[in-house]
Amino acid sequence: MGNLAVNLGGLAMKNPVTVASGTFAAGREYHDFFDVSQLGAVTTKGVSLHGWEGNASPRIAETPSGMLNSIGLQNPGVEHLKECDLPWLADVGATTIVNVSGHSFDEYVQVIEALEEAPVDAYEVNISCPNVDAGGMTIGCKTASVEEVVRRCREATARPLIVKLTPNVTDITEIARAAESAGADAISLINTLLGMAIDARRRRPVLARGVGGLSGPAVKPVALRMVWECHNAVSVPLLGMGGICTGEDAVEFMLAGATAVAVGTANFMNPCAAIEVVRGIEAYCDEQRVDNVTELIGALTW
Ligand code: DOR
Repeated sequence: MGNLAVNLGGLAMKNPVTVASGTFAAGREYHDFFDVSQLGAVTTKGVSLHGWEGNASPRIAETPSGMLNSIGLQNPGVEHLKECDLPWLADVGATTIVNVSGHSFDEYVQVIEALEEAPVDAYEVNISCPNVDAGGMTIGCKTASVEEVVRRCREATARPLIVKLTPNVTDITEIARAAESAGADAISLINTLLGMAIDARRRRPVLARGVGGLSGPAVKPVALRMVWECHNAVSVPLLGMGGICTGEDAVEFMLAGATAVAVGTANFMNPCAAIEVVRGIEAYCDEQRVDNVTELIGALTW
């Protein structure tokens, strides 16, 4: 069997697979189906300083081309994560990435400061949620605000700092470069693509908020394109995600330039999706005689 270990900007992962934040909670429910410590890492749902209720319902819509959500970063706050989820993840031996959210630059920093003594292996700074009016994508669409928030988070921790980007921009490479220059150790892409669903009979939007983030296989070509563009634009490693359901999907992201991948929407359909992606990468490496999975990173040929 080939070596599956990768290093994502200082985060050692036993294999290149994590889960997309918000699709796996902290992993407890999934642990009934498989040992979550067998993943390269568990990425937890975005956490803010205090609990947030999120947006009004309905805030999930299934469309023929993917899932739309407008959750709005509902979460119980960082103290709950510290008391309940992080000790559990440490107990089961999981490598843990905490997705960090905030309404303001200060709040991102405060969340990181609150977690510095907790068992966390890396932070993923979420500047790409399309469903909040302050924070999220409002910060992640402009190079100046990307630089400021990443610089401030960088000053707050020596732990690996992954920055998660939004696809809802014209030039993803300029945003990626801004994150890299401000001190990001790795870049995640992509968060969800802003979209809308309409109920023709009722003549109204399906989601209470009107718009939401599209995820699932429909966004995979967009995500692959952005991973490939960023692989050619920055030197930091990339965490690719968007519609990954199988080992072969994951390999496509690695060939485009991702060092690691995250399984997102597929977790809702199949609770074993993430571990099946690990096994699928293993099978691909065996079949293709790949001794070390890192050989695949950016190995696209023309
Ligand atoms: O699509 C998303 N939904 N992306 C995020 O970053 C957060 C989530 C939410 O809670 O709205």
